[in-house]
Amino acid sequence: MAAEKALEGRVAYVTGAARGQGRAHAVRLANEGADIVASDICAPASPTVTYPAATPEDLAETVRAVEATGRKVLSRAVDIRDLEAQQQLVADTIEQFGRLDVVVANAGVLSWGRIWELTPEQWDTVVDVNLNGTWRTIRATVPAMIEAGNGGSIIIVSSSAGVKATPGNAHYAASKHGLTALTNSLALEVGEFGIRVNSIHPYSIDTPMIEPEAMGAMFAKHPSFLHSFAPMPYHRVTDGKSEGLAAFMAPEEVSNVVAWLAGDGSATLSGSQIAVDRGVMKY
Ligand SMILES: NC(=O)c1ccc[n+]([C@@H]2O[C@H](COP(=O)([O-])OP(=O)(O)OC[C@H]3O[C@@H](n4cnc5c(N)ncnc54)[C@H](O)[C@@H]3O)[C@@H](O)[C@H]2O)c1
Repeated sequence: MAAEKALEGRVAYVTGAARGQGRAHAVRLANEGADIVASDICAPASPTVTYPAATPEDLAETVRAVEATGRKVLSRAVDIRDLEAQQQLVADTIEQFGRLDVVVANAGVLSWGRIWELTPEQWDTVVDVNLNGTWRTIRATVPAMIEAGNGGSIIIVSSSAGVKATPGNAHYAASKHGLTALTNSLALEVGEFGIRVNSIHPYSIDTPMIEPEAMGAMFAKHPSFLHSFAPMPYHRVTDGKSEGLAAFMAPEEVSNVVAWLAGDGSATLSGSQIAVDRGVMKY
């Protein structure tokens, strides 16, 4: 008989699951044995976000990839700013799967500008999606996790910008620092229900959110900002061989950390900030 997988019998809700890191997390958690609830806005969050938006076809591709693992998936186009829509999705999750064990609050957006030059729409969009929307994800999911009574693991996707200064996107940094605070307060509040809450702080992951043109234009105008976006200080090593210095990490590399936080191997961690940055934040 095959060994039971780490997340066999559990259910994981992933926001921003249409592409990028969210898709990688959904597929990875499914490979660990979890059934998946995959949501994404599947449309532009705001005209102030200048990189291409995820589409319904992207979410359909995530569904295909999860189903290819043999696990079940419930997917829906949902904006995390919409509390009622998330609550309905959670209610449908409980009806279909009977429980909710893992939440990966991953959906987010980014834009660029100096603090005093940001438009109110840029500020409001980033804070409303990343911070207010993630609170709505928590508001929608935690009561169902408590009610199910199985404990669980909540993984909040913050950023290096959630623990350090990032000139050129302070609204994003403010929202991601807010998520760090939310993580730690929530960890203390839900500990008595056997639910753990940790934040991850990725740096430089190869997804559509990273716009080399927008970043290049910012650094050309303000070269001193470059110090805050240092290259990663060690080589990528795959199968014991160095591939040289990598400017980016793959979403799947972040999924390794998410899978560990989701499972019982990280049972002693709650209220932790996990850097996923190959050490770059120590510069
Ligand atoms: N790429 C990086 O270098 C990096 C570094 C640190 C943190 N992050 C964070 O990782 C998370 C995933 O980003 P990514 O790099 O995969 O980029 P991405 O743009 O590929 O993925 C983000 C996903 O979130 C979805 N989304 C955006 N607004 C939404 C909303 N209001 N409701 C529901 N879904 C919404 C998008 O449609 C998209 O599919 C984000 O929270 C981001 O801030 C990214």
